[in-house]
Parts: sequence; structure tokens; C-alpha cells
Amino acid sequence: MREFEQVFSIIEEHHRLMASSLPLIASENVTSMAVRRCYTSDLGHRYAMGEIGERAYEGCEYIDEIERKAVELTKRLFNAEHANVRPISGTVANIAVYHALTSCGDSIFSLPVECGGHTSHDDTARIRCLNVHFLPFDSERFNIDIDAASRMIREVKPRLIVLGASVFLFPHPVKEIVEIAAEVGANVIYDASHVLGLIAGKQFQDPVKEGADVVTASTHKTFFGPQRAIILCKSELAEKIDYAVMPCVVSNHHLNTLAGYVIACLEMLEFGESYAKQTVRNAKRLAERLYELGMKVVGEAEGFTESHQVVIDVDDGEKAAKTLEKAGIITNRCLLPWSEGKSAGIRIGVQEVTRLGMKGGEMEYIAELISKALDGIDVRSEVVELSKQFNTVKYTFEESHAYSFI
Ligand SMILES: Cc1ncc(COP(=O)(O)O)c(C=O)c1O
Repeated sequence: MREFEQVFSIIEEHHRLMASSLPLIASENVTSMAVRRCYTSDLGHRYAMGEIGERAYEGCEYIDEIERKAVELTKRLFNAEHANVRPISGTVANIAVYHALTSCGDSIFSLPVECGGHTSHDDTARIRCLNVHFLPFDSERFNIDIDAASRMIREVKPRLIVLGASVFLFPHPVKEIVEIAAEVGANVIYDASHVLGLIAGKQFQDPVKEGADVVTASTHKTFFGPQRAIILCKSELAEKIDYAVMPCVVSNHHLNTLAGYVIACLEMLEFGESYAKQTVRNAKRLAERLYELGMKVVGEAEGFTESHQVVIDVDDGEKAAKTLEKAGIITNRCLLPWSEGKSAGIRIGVQEVTRLGMKGGEMEYIAELISKALDGIDVRSEVVELSKQFNTVKYTFEESHAYSFI
């Protein structure tokens, strides 16, 4: 086989692996064939620096139409005063917001990684020389400790408070934080990367309505889009945010996936509500069954989950994730607030299997497979059988195979 053919053969192997596994990584999803068709278009070869209708490059007549639609649909989906659809990833969106709203040396508050925060709320913020303070966390409720946070925010008087998380089970106290932020002159940014599809489907808190100044989000976790991101903000911040995105951190906004994002918005408008409802229902059912089977499911005091995620405390998350991987159950390990730097948890997301059409019965079965696999029982063939029955992308205009390689 020639070397270039080997590359395709490796990709085909990857597709076969996905088609015979249970994809339960909370930050991933499959896109519809309609979205994927856009990736292969000529748009992926082009540049469109500048504003719609005022580009620094010629040949952008149709690209303008695509970007205009992306902005319009985003504003409509999230009822936002302003939308920037150009960041090429969630981290890039957060960098742009730090650049727009802070100066080097300013203080910000965010969650540490062991309480669900993302590296872009900590390490990335430090690139801008920001002083990162951590929001206090109530491990029992698996949420921000609002009383302790109020005291700390009043004392430190930060420039920015970052809400939202990567391990994200319950809505954050946005309204309360917005009130305290107003007292000290801070802006509130809500990172909706994980829950964007649930917000679009009206099944999670609405951070725009609750008063966040800025919402950043990647578009490929619970949302139906390709890997890129958006920023929503109040009108008065629009100019600063737009400049911080382009030209400061993006000069090429990946126009093929921008077109794919437009299709994803249309899918969300049409199917988002029923998908998001089923996703949250599935997560709750999975958590309950895992709990019944004797697993330590995080967030028991609050009913385990209000999102697409379920977290289990397995003591050694690395070992457990590898054991599950051997069975074809794909998850990832995570830190937990009480695990002292050790990845004691397994984070599970049900959004992708929901997109493939799974419902409560399958959630109960998956819980049993996870429990057996962690007990050392070989369930690989059961996993293959289950995944064979669920390999079509649903909640889209034309259903298609989820893991076929174009
Ligand atoms: C809360 C949160 N913010 C930002 C990101 C970064 O997004 P991206 O991978 O698109 O850069 C992630 C990624 O998982 C995330 O969980």
C-alpha cells in the first residue's frame, strides 16, 4: 500500500472503531451528513478577512451570505444582542474575551479544574498575565458556593468572573453572580461550551436572560456543529469583542466549517428541543441506574444531573477509563474536588448516543455494561451488538450513517 493510501486506511480503521463502540465522551458529538458535506466544499480553501460586505479579499460574495446567515441564526437561537461566529475553538473564544475585557495583571475568578473548570479558565488566562482566583465550591451540591464566593468577590474586586465548566452537572448561580459583579464593576462571562445544545433546546439555564455580559461556547459538544465556537455579548461590548476576535486571534475563520455551523443552527431550530429533552432525560436515567447498581454517582444530593453529563467516583479514573475502553465504552477520566489531584472520576456524556436515537432502555443497559466491565466481565460483544443498532444520525433533515467515511 502506498503511503498516501495508508492514511485513508488508518482513517477507515478509526471509523470502524467508532462504529463498534459506545461514544460517551461528554465533549464530543457526531455531525449530520449535511454538516459534513460543507467541510468538503471549496469554502475550506478561502479567506474572508474583514467585515461582511467589506472584505480585504475579493471573491467573497457567497461567503458573505453564509456568514450573514450564521450571525442571524445565532442571534435568533440565543436571543442575543450581538453574535460573533468567527472563533475557531472554545479556547480561542475565551482568549478573545480576555483580550477584549482585561488588561495584564487584572484579577479574574473561575473554577479550578478539579471543580469542573476548563484549562482555558486558568492556564490560558495566565498567558495574559491575569491573576486567577478560584471560586469556592460546594462539593456536596457540586456547585459554586455562592455565599463564600460573594465574600471573596467583594474583597478581591476582580475584572472578570468566569462561569460555566467542563464537568458541568447543575446550572450555575448566574443571576446571583451578576448582581455581585455589578457591585464591584466586574463583567460576567459564561462558558457554555458543554451545554450550548441544551440551552438552544431550552433545557438548561439561559445565561443571556440571566444577565451574563458575554457567553462563549464551542459548537460541537451538545450543539450539532463542527468544531468551532461562538461569542454572544451585550451590544455595548460588541466592538471590543469583534476586534479581539479578528484580527487579534483569528485571521482565517474556517469558512467550510462556518457553513456547517449554519446547517447545525437550522437543525437545532427544528429538532433542538426534542433532542435536548431526551439528552437530559437519558443522563438522569443512566445516573439513576448506575446508582442502583452500587456505583458512587456524583451529585446525589441534587438528583445526580441536570445536563448531558454523569460523573462517577471510581477512585482510579485512569484505570477505569482504560478498562471501559477495552470493552468499547469510550469515556474519559476527570479530577474531582475531593480527589487531591488524582483523576478519581469518570465523566460520561450521553449527547452523542442520544443523537444516535438511544432512549431510557438503552441507558439502563449501558449502565449495566459499565458496571459489568468495571467488575472485569468481558462485554465487548454486547457493546458491538448495541452500537450496530444505533449508527444513524437523528434529529436532522436527512438521516444518514453516523460513522461512514466520505
Ligand atoms: C468549558 C469549556 N470551555 C472551553 C473548551 C475549549 O473548547 P475547544 O476545545 O473548542 O477549544 C472546553 C473544551 O472541552 C470546555 O469544556
